[in-house]
Amino acid sequence: MTRHFLALSQYTKGELDALFALTRELKEKQKKGIEHHLLKGKSVALIFEKSSTRTRVSFEVGVYQLGAQPLFISSGTSQMGRGEPIKDTARCMARYCDGVMIRTYGQEIVEEFARYSDVPVINGLTDLFHPCQIMADLFTVIEHKGSCEGLKVAWVGDGNNMANTWVEAAAIFGFDLTLACPTGYEPNRHVWEWAQTRATSTITITEDPEEAVRDADVVNTDVWASMGQEAEQQKREQAFQGFCLTDELVSLARPDCMVLHCLPAHRGEEITDSVIEGPRSAVWDEAENRLHVQKAIMATLMK
Ligand code: CP
Ligand code: NVA
Repeated sequence: MTRHFLALSQYTKGELDALFALTRELKEKQKKGIEHHLLKGKSVALIFEKSSTRTRVSFEVGVYQLGAQPLFISSGTSQMGRGEPIKDTARCMARYCDGVMIRTYGQEIVEEFARYSDVPVINGLTDLFHPCQIMADLFTVIEHKGSCEGLKVAWVGDGNNMANTWVEAAAIFGFDLTLACPTGYEPNRHVWEWAQTRATSTITITEDPEEAVRDADVVNTDVWASMGQEAEQQKREQAFQGFCLTDELVSLARPDCMVLHCLPAHRGEEITDSVIEGPRSAVWDEAENRLHVQKAIMATLMK
């Protein structure tokens, strides 16, 4: 059966650990200039219905480094933008390509795509989840801290696709997660309930950013208005007052804490310039690790 990568909850901890082990190997090979054409001669379609810098470049470069051909497809210049059904696009793509990455709106779109695709489909971000990003974030935490088990992770801001994926990750990997979100901006209820039924660690929510950040090993944030929510920007700026990662807030975390942000960042809104440029920021390692972790995911699913 074709295996897809649509949500972390489809994978066991053991399977995700195996992806991290391959990520480590591929990162080392890339740094040493050792060829690793695990997908030699294959083609991977990269479909974007939303904007991207990191996802597009890291997937295109990653596919190339694996010896395969990347095909960038923007919905606006393909028939998808003119309303061709997802299931028709999916079946045609699977006749040409060996794998597909898709960035889109509803999670149900990637799920429908995968249902009709005979080749592996990878979620490159939906409104609900951003699993490739959280894999890169976890890998970065493991590189810096040795492991993510037993850590206290804080999320400050919107209960968005990133927050939802952190909730899944906490339940799978067994680290404590405290989210500080304003009322009305909590993570997805189904994801929350799924995580609560299987978590061995503590996953909690508060409206108080200080409570979330106090003694944390990892402090995370993301934009207040995600792609597709641009019309809510002003309303959200009001709702998220007090939810900015400042030096003062981060000083409540452990002295050796790491600050993560998936980027793009709005400096002065969810994070200050001095925090993102400061000594605790690991955002550039985090961005780099998108490349390595996605290569491991593609190599595992598409070889
Ligand atoms: N973090 C992330 O997914 O960045 P892009 O939107 O630039 O791809
Ligand atoms: N939550 C953000 C993440 C961007 C990488 C968004 O969906 O726009």
